[in-house]
Amino acid sequence: MTAQPTPLPDLLTRWDVQQTAYIADRDRVYEVMFEVLTHLKPAEDLVVLDLACGPGAISGRLLELLPKARAVAVDVDPVLLAIGEGSLGEVDGRLRWVRADLRDPDWPEALGEDAGAFDAVLSSTALHWLDPAVLTATYRHALRLLRPDGVLLNADYLPHPQGSRLRAVSDAIALTRRERALAGGAESWESWWEAVRAEPALADALAERAALWPEGARDWTGASHRFHEAALLDAGFAEAGVVWQDLQERIVVGLR
Ligand SMILES: C[S@@+](CC[C@H](N)C(=O)[O-])C[C@H]1O[C@@H](n2cnc3c(N)ncnc32)[C@H](O)[C@@H]1O
Repeated sequence: MTAQPTPLPDLLTRWDVQQTAYIADRDRVYEVMFEVLTHLKPAEDLVVLDLACGPGAISGRLLELLPKARAVAVDVDPVLLAIGEGSLGEVDGRLRWVRADLRDPDWPEALGEDAGAFDAVLSSTALHWLDPAVLTATYRHALRLLRPDGVLLNADYLPHPQGSRLRAVSDAIALTRRERALAGGAESWESWWEAVRAEPALADALAERAALWPEGARDWTGASHRFHEAALLDAGFAEAGVVWQDLQERIVVGLR
């Protein structure tokens, strides 16, 4: 049977559900992220950079929570950007979508007038994809994109060091949780992408996406949480540390 097209907002809803198979308590992650953010930055009119935004999980939630805030959502994937933009839109001019590749050393130029004026750089489930050199460069760029009292929060797979027993046991428990979620009917990453491929409006974006990672799927490097903390300090953040953790899902914070 041929898969039927799915409207973009439904794909966004399904994205969120699909991601919970991989990040067990995903809503809690955003809750804690925004609690920490709003304690550190109590102003209502925050300007936020949603880094490697995908279809806009952070931006959508944050702009609903803070009706005077503004977000710039950046990603390289034309498919995820199209789904995000097609579902969330511009939220009364408070959300701007920007296509940029964090592997490009000049990516901050794509941000235009907001560069240097962000109160916060926020990211979820994304930066672990980056090579260590790109990751450290990204944190350096993030520091410069922030106002002097800005904050970075990265909610991500930030594992224990490679080869450690803690990493092995945490990965094993996470796998058991994922298998349980999928067995309980949660949608998988693969099945979500199948639905995307059935949507004719996304055909051009899919073709463009195919050229993004010519090296094909690769194992992520999975830089440890210690590496992230060290990279933030090395980039010039005054403080860096973990504020929340579930197994190896952590929120690391950098204070400028
Ligand atoms: C698992 S998704 C997470 C998306 C979103 N932040 C969320 O939590 O739902 C990882 C995201 O990282 C983005 N990404 C990976 N490498 C990137 C790069 N070099 N430049 C920009 N975005 C990148 C992908 O396109 C994808 O949208």
